[in-house]
Amino acid sequence: MQSQIIGTGACIPDNIITNEALEKLVDTSDEWIVSRTGIRERRRINSNEASSDLAYTSAKRALKNAGLKPDQVDLILVATATPDMLFPSTACMVQGKLGLKNIPAFDLSAVCTGFIYGLATADAFIKSGVYKTILLVGVDTLTKFIDYKDRTTCVIFGDGAGAVVIKATKEKKGIIASKLYADGSKWDYIHLPGGGSRIPSYKSDRNTYYLKMKGNDTFKVAVRGLEQAIVTLLKQCCISTSDIDIVIPHQANIRIIEALARKLDYPMEKIFVNIQKYGNTSAASIPIAFDEAIKENRIKDGDIILMTAFGSGLTWGASLIRW
Ligand code: COA
Repeated sequence: MQSQIIGTGACIPDNIITNEALEKLVDTSDEWIVSRTGIRERRRINSNEASSDLAYTSAKRALKNAGLKPDQVDLILVATATPDMLFPSTACMVQGKLGLKNIPAFDLSAVCTGFIYGLATADAFIKSGVYKTILLVGVDTLTKFIDYKDRTTCVIFGDGAGAVVIKATKEKKGIIASKLYADGSKWDYIHLPGGGSRIPSYKSDRNTYYLKMKGNDTFKVAVRGLEQAIVTLLKQCCISTSDIDIVIPHQANIRIIEALARKLDYPMEKIFVNIQKYGNTSAASIPIAFDEAIKENRIKDGDIILMTAFGSGLTWGASLIRW
């Protein structure tokens, strides 16, 4: 049995934050942001909305694209670091909004690597015969946890959601394999201290509600981690970089993507990049980019697709897909 992706969808908030708008909030410049990150603008969710709202819209679009009704789904997985609330899960919220009952739904927490962790989980459930049709959503609304006085983080992150429908098939198509990693000793590279059981909300001061990041340290381990995941996965699957038709990387920083391309000796033209429009949307970045790549006809029948991500945890990984 193979796990074939049969539908994709995305939901990006309308509200745009340009670099020029950030210049008015912090000591930064469009030139600095573009040259250091590749980001020109990012999107921000409305204050009365939460992750499950974006997730639900992206899920509906993916189901429509797959030609399925919600009641044909066996399992809902939501990769997110910004759930609507600590519990219940955002996956349960999405299930409720889709009008479904009696199917399992749960969240995965691997932050920016969440979608790759989700693909590997869905693939394992399908290949073991437990479920046949899985809805996987990657969603994050990190702008709700950003200090717009901190120039080192506020320029990077944006909101969004992307979804895929994955179905069991006997065809030779779908997820070939995934490789996942984590290093919990570096938990403090990117983290959000407040609101959990260590610093509960009632004890938190405002500062603990904001995302903290050691940008420079993260940059270095990101490039090494992505290279490790890709090289190991390709070796395991007996596939070489020249066999890969398109790379859909996590959109964290254009310089990280360019460094990876140099290390793998892989052409930038075959790497899908949309970071300039959305910034880093965490778990949503790969499914949003994937949906756009399909709509722009960048992916054709039989193509080998490589997806790769890293993020807080630290977590990192890669997936190979035959389209
Ligand atoms: N505008 C202007 N100056 C800024 C700035 C901003 N938005 N943010 C930081 N700076 C300043 C710093 O204060 C520092 O000034 P100093 O030299 O006077 O101390 C200088 O720019 C260089 O800072 P540094 O952190 O070394 O910059 P950098 O080239 O590493 O770029 C990041 C910063 C955050 C863009 C980069 O480290 C990065 O992308 N890291 C990876 C983060 C990431 O991907 N996180 C998500 C993981 S999923």
